[in-house]
Amino acid sequence: MSADSVTTSIRELVAEREIIITCGSGGVGKTTTAAAIGAMVAATTDRKVLVLTVDPARRLATAMGLSEFGNVESQVPPELLDEARVDRGSASGDEDDAAGTAGELWAAMLDTHQSWNDLIRRHAPDQRTIDAILANPIYQSFTSTFVQSHDYIAMERLYELQESGDYDLIVVDTPPTRNAIDFLAAPERMADFFSSRLLRWLIAPYRSRVVNAASKPFLVAADRILGAQFLSDIADFFILFQSMYDGFVERAEAVSEVLADHRTSFVVVSTLEAAPSREARFFMSELKKRKLNLGALVLNKTLPPLLLERGALRDAEEVRKNPSDVASKVPQRVGSPKVVGHVLEEIADRYLDYRVLAKREAELRGELSGSVPMVASVPYLSDDVSDLGGLIEMATHLFGSSDPDQR
Ligand SMILES: Nc1ncnc2c1ncn2[C@@H]1O[C@H](COP(=O)(O)OP(=O)(O)O)[C@@H](O)[C@H]1O
Ligand SMILES: [Mg+2]
Repeated sequence: MSADSVTTSIRELVAEREIIITCGSGGVGKTTTAAAIGAMVAATTDRKVLVLTVDPARRLATAMGLSEFGNVESQVPPELLDEARVDRGSASGDEDDAAGTAGELWAAMLDTHQSWNDLIRRHAPDQRTIDAILANPIYQSFTSTFVQSHDYIAMERLYELQESGDYDLIVVDTPPTRNAIDFLAAPERMADFFSSRLLRWLIAPYRSRVVNAASKPFLVAADRILGAQFLSDIADFFILFQSMYDGFVERAEAVSEVLADHRTSFVVVSTLEAAPSREARFFMSELKKRKLNLGALVLNKTLPPLLLERGALRDAEEVRKNPSDVASKVPQRVGSPKVVGHVLEEIADRYLDYRVLAKREAELRGELSGSVPMVASVPYLSDDVSDLGGLIEMATHLFGSSDPDQR
């Protein structure tokens, strides 16, 4: 997108978009990043923001007023947001940003099974079909067990929320899929599935299939293994779904369009460790291949930049070489020069160890950020990010640290 070429911070990126999707491998901070972006935009602008989350840690969910999974969006109590606003305003000295804004923060946790039920209720042609589908055992296990059905419904739900026009910005957290691109492919796969030959075969009138000579041996065997009830449940499931096929294909295509729209942007989150970095790289190349908009790369839980400063290295090496010399310059009341010398030596050793890690991080950062429009770094914060204050703190790094020169 041309807008990306002039966008230099996540703050700007988010200002220009209506949907932000965080993605990356498990545990890197997708959920926290999504919540932090949402909280910061709600606290500093007058936009109405929804964070659509998948698996928030319990304390974070509680902090956002989410007590259980459900599709109902609930508003984070405005007074909590006000508190975070005030803290943020005084912490950064940037009170203009925080003052007089009327942003709202909403949150919802995706419930796969309930979302499917809602979808059926909305799109089945009549009540009889709705009841029959919801009661069908194949449908029930399809919606609660298949990971694919989870990926698909997450995208459906996003589409529906976006269509509702209720929110100025929707920040979407993605499920911990085995393969990070699964949910990108979910709408396509759903469309393929509903227009496939397998499906047509399955929904050919059940009776005529039973007498079909070619399929008879299969059905006899299947019947013995799975039971006649299972086969008839399967047939019923697909026959019931038949009335909605075209709708599914159309909607799946519409969802794909929303993902590709210029108002949607992906934020890839990674830590600077080998496995998540590899996955992030793969993910970024998939986004490119699919012509989806990669807005930014967030490097989370990074080591502090001080570790790479030359001056600090010189000092650490000096201490390492000559601990007792340095210790002799420390005021006596701290302890005996010998003990202080040991402590300093130990600290310098640790510092040099961390520096090795920091250099490795810097290399990975270089490898990762080559083709990304923008990179933001968030250090490892001393506290778990589990309340609005923590989210705003994290967002301060996210929104502030984007530095094109760091790339
Ligand atoms: N920058 C950070 N510093 C410290 N802890 C963090 C940071 N980012 C995330 N965390 C913590 O790491 C854990 C995993 O984060 P989460 O957002 O749930 O990851 P994901 O959604 O990618 O699986 C959470 O406990 C969260 O509070
Ligand atoms: Mg998560």
